Amino acid sequence: MRLLAAFLVGLLTCAPVLAADGNAERGEEIYTRCKACHALEQNRVGPRHCGLFGRKAGSVPNYQYSAAMKKYGVTWNEETLDKFIENPLKTVPGTKMGYAGVKDPQERADLIAYLKKATSDPKICD
Ligand code: HEC
Repeated sequence: MRLLAAFLVGLLTCAPVLAADGNAERGEEIYTRCKACHALEQNRVGPRHCGLFGRKAGSVPNYQYSAAMKKYGVTWNEETLDKFIENPLKTVPGTKMGYAGVKDPQERADLIAYLKKATSDPKICD
């Protein structure tokens, strides 16, 4: 009986991890890594991130993309971002985003949850 109870407690405490969705608050902290080069509102070393979801890769006006990014051809959404952020240089060979990527899938999910909110927030992005 005690064993069963321990098993059930274990199951309950594991459940939120298994069902994990992106946590935007944690994602905001992870975004500080991106802020070395990016801002939501304006182009810096990297292109602005406002309006990212639903936008074609390599399409922010007045930003000089690499030929590789201009040709990449995807539309940014949860899946395409997850793949790119995991390993930018491998996903888009020739990209000028000189960043090794975010290897932890949970960190990527958190980051994407944050980006989804922040890049369409009318208080930040008009
Ligand atoms: C060392 C600087 C640097 C860092 C750090 C960096 N980026 Fe970038 N990022 C760039 C550059 C430069 C580009 C343009 C790539 C190109 O044209 O090939 C870019 C492009 C992108 C794009 C494509 C945007 C578009 O308009 O098509 C996304 C998405 C992106 N970065 C997300 C991120 C995220 C998320 C992080 C943090 C985990 C991050 N980047 C960290 C420099 C950086």
